Amino acid sequence: MHLTKEQERMLDGEEGEVVARMMRLLVRLGDVYGAEKMVPVTSVQVAGVSYKSIGDAGLEFLQDIAKEARVKVLTFLNPAGMDLENWKEMGISEEFAKKQLAIINAFQKMGIVISATCTPYLAGNLPRYRQHIAWSESSAVSFANSVIGARTNREGGPSALAAAVTGFTPYYGLHLDENRQPNVIVKVKTELKTSTDFAAMGYYIGKEVKKGIPYFQGIKDADVDDLKALGAAMAASGAVALYHVEGITPEAKEVSIEGLEEIEFGEKELKETYDRLSTGDEPDIIIFGCPHASLNEIIKVAKIVEGRKARKPFWICTSRAVKEIADKMGLREKIEAAGGKIVADTCMVVSPIENLFNTTAVNSAKAAHYLPGFCKQKVVFKSMEDLLEG
Ligand code: F3S
Repeated sequence: MHLTKEQERMLDGEEGEVVARMMRLLVRLGDVYGAEKMVPVTSVQVAGVSYKSIGDAGLEFLQDIAKEARVKVLTFLNPAGMDLENWKEMGISEEFAKKQLAIINAFQKMGIVISATCTPYLAGNLPRYRQHIAWSESSAVSFANSVIGARTNREGGPSALAAAVTGFTPYYGLHLDENRQPNVIVKVKTELKTSTDFAAMGYYIGKEVKKGIPYFQGIKDADVDDLKALGAAMAASGAVALYHVEGITPEAKEVSIEGLEEIEFGEKELKETYDRLSTGDEPDIIIFGCPHASLNEIIKVAKIVEGRKARKPFWICTSRAVKEIADKMGLREKIEAAGGKIVADTCMVVSPIENLFNTTAVNSAKAAHYLPGFCKQKVVFKSMEDLLEG
C-alpha cells in the first residue's frame, strides 16, 4: 500500500509506540483488503464501549492505549452498559458501574467526546455527503452510508480507534464508488405505516440479501426515524451496510439497476415478520430507542401518554444530547408521570437488563433480534402506538 511521508513517520514510531501500533493495524487491514492507499477521515465512532461486551480484557487494553494515544478527529462512542449519570436508578450494580466508568475515563483521556450513542448523526457528529469516515455500530454505518451518503466500512472497535488516533483509514470497500452499486431490487408492495413496519421490512430483507446492497422501489415517503429503523434491522438480520431508496436516498439516482434480480415485499411478508419476532406475551417493560431515539420520537411518546399512565413501565433510550433537550422541553416530567424513564448513554441490548426483566416489548426489529440471545429476553414486537395504547 502506498503511504504518505506523514503515514510512514507514524508507522516508524515518530508519534509514539501506540500510534505506530495503530498504523500497523491499519496497514495490515489495508493489505488484507487490497487497499492501494489510506484516506483521511473526518469523523469516527468507536464500538466496544460497554463493560458487558468488552469485559476486563477490553478495559485493560483501553487503559494501556490511553496512556499515550490522543484522537485527531471528532470521535464519538457507541452506547455504554449503563446511563453514565443515573445508573443506580437503572438497577446497575456498583461493581459493574465502577468498571464501566473506568472504560469511559480511558476514552475521555484519549480526547474522545463522551457521547455514547448509536445515532451520532442526531447528537452532534454529522458527516456530509461523500465524506470519508470510520464508524463502527452497524445501524450508524448503514445510516451514514445510505441516508447521508458519507463513506464508511463497518469498523471493529480497534480499527475505529486506530482511525481516530491516526486520522486515516484504508481506502477499500464502501469508500470506493464501484462498491456502492446495488445488487438487488426490492419492490415494496405494501403500505408501511409506522417506523416499526420499516423495521419489519428491513428484518425480512436483511435475511434475504445478507451482505448485499438493496435498491428499494415503491416507498412513497420515509422520515429519518423510518430510515434508521430500516437500516438497523437489515444490518441485524443480514449484514447490509448500504441501501438505496428510489427518490429518497442521495445516491439512488447515481447507481445503475439494469438487469438486477428483483424480490418483492408485501402484506404477507410484513405479517410473517411481526409473528416471527414476537416470542413473548406479557412484557415486564417496554423499551424504545433502538437505534437511539430521536427528539421527534420522544415527543411522539410524550403525546401518546400525555395525561395518563402507560399500561406498562417503559424506557426510552437515547443520547445524552437528545435527553438534555427533552429535559429542557419538559418532556421528562410528562414521560415520568406516565410511568416512563428517559435513559441516556446506553440501550436495552448492551446494558445487563437480564438481571431486571424476563420479557421486553420493543418497536425495533434489531432489538427484537438481539434481546433473546444477548439478554435472555422473551420479546413482544409491536409499534410504539400499539405498545403504549393497546
Ligand atoms: Fe443502538 Fe443498542 Fe440498538 S447500540 S442500534 S440501541 S442495540
